[in-house]
Amino acid sequence: MCCEFINMVLLSDMVRRERSSYIPSSYVWPKNERPNLLEMESSDVSIPLIDLHEMDDHQHSLVVKAIGEACKSEGFFMVKNHGIPDIVLSEMLRISKEYFKLPECERMKAYSDDPKKNVRLSTSCNVKTEKIASWRDYLRLHCYPLEDFIHQWPSNPYSFQEIVGEYCKRVRELALKLLEAISESLGREKKYMEKALGKQGQHMAINYYPPCPQPDLTFGLPGHNDPNAITILLQDTIPGLQVLRNGKWLAVNPLPNTLIINIGNQIEVLSNGRYKSVLHRAIVNKDNERISVATFYCPSYDAVIEPARELIDEEHPRITKTFTYGEYYDQFWTLDLQSESCLDLFKV
Ligand code: OGA
Ligand code: NI
Repeated sequence: MCCEFINMVLLSDMVRRERSSYIPSSYVWPKNERPNLLEMESSDVSIPLIDLHEMDDHQHSLVVKAIGEACKSEGFFMVKNHGIPDIVLSEMLRISKEYFKLPECERMKAYSDDPKKNVRLSTSCNVKTEKIASWRDYLRLHCYPLEDFIHQWPSNPYSFQEIVGEYCKRVRELALKLLEAISESLGREKKYMEKALGKQGQHMAINYYPPCPQPDLTFGLPGHNDPNAITILLQDTIPGLQVLRNGKWLAVNPLPNTLIINIGNQIEVLSNGRYKSVLHRAIVNKDNERISVATFYCPSYDAVIEPARELIDEEHPRITKTFTYGEYYDQFWTLDLQSESCLDLFKV
């Protein structure tokens, strides 16, 4: 035993130690809420794949249009030729996997169940409010402004800060590019969204889903939508992400070197409901661990959020009151993600 943490707070360590064929009852979802792994939409239909290569030339307006349409109809799309080198993506995944292979005592240095922490390793979703646990451990990092946070991140594995820092910088550039396209697609000026997010924030969740002996009884992450503005998801080669489309769960299977983009609650508000933050979830499987890296690009805590005046009219009445992102985010962490939607609490 290398340290004092023997109470098995993290799922990954419990799985490694016990090698059980059953999951603990705290992870078992009620029968009618389980994933139903047999009834999935076939994987050859998926969310739109948008080539961002053409964004910088005369095809610009076509790409903007495609992004607008995807935001409107699906709330989700994939991007290729997004400008982030393949090596930056593969290194990010490699170092994430290495982090979750560190000895328990090394990882536990970052453990906390306080959502206000800038760096925190935790498990499931929200251990303080949830009734049923999820099959996930995660490391959550604040990432922007980078120089304010990078030195607080884990320094083991060696070069974690350097590799994750590089990924964060690149992903922020992509987020800003997408926010420009989204602003334009709504008929607003390019910098509309960026400005609406105030000084802006960027958080990251590195999700680790261990293999699960009974994947049909539980979730890696139950259905939820994201509270931030826009999410950029990098996943490894193991499927798991599903998106709700027309009342059915659609698997979004990994495509090498593409990233998955989804609209969060704040863009739903800023666009006055033109664009929707759509329910999504992660399922787990028997044989493989899975890693995903979610970047949550968000307003700064003090940013005042409200629907764009120009997008409010008789046909589109105002959907929410005015609030600060701080109020919204604090509220989000008091909820049980599985049964309540934060956005509903801010509607008019
Ligand atoms: C998230 C999320 C999906 C996944 O972290 O908010 O939706 O596939 N992750 O890990
Ligand atoms: Ni999510």
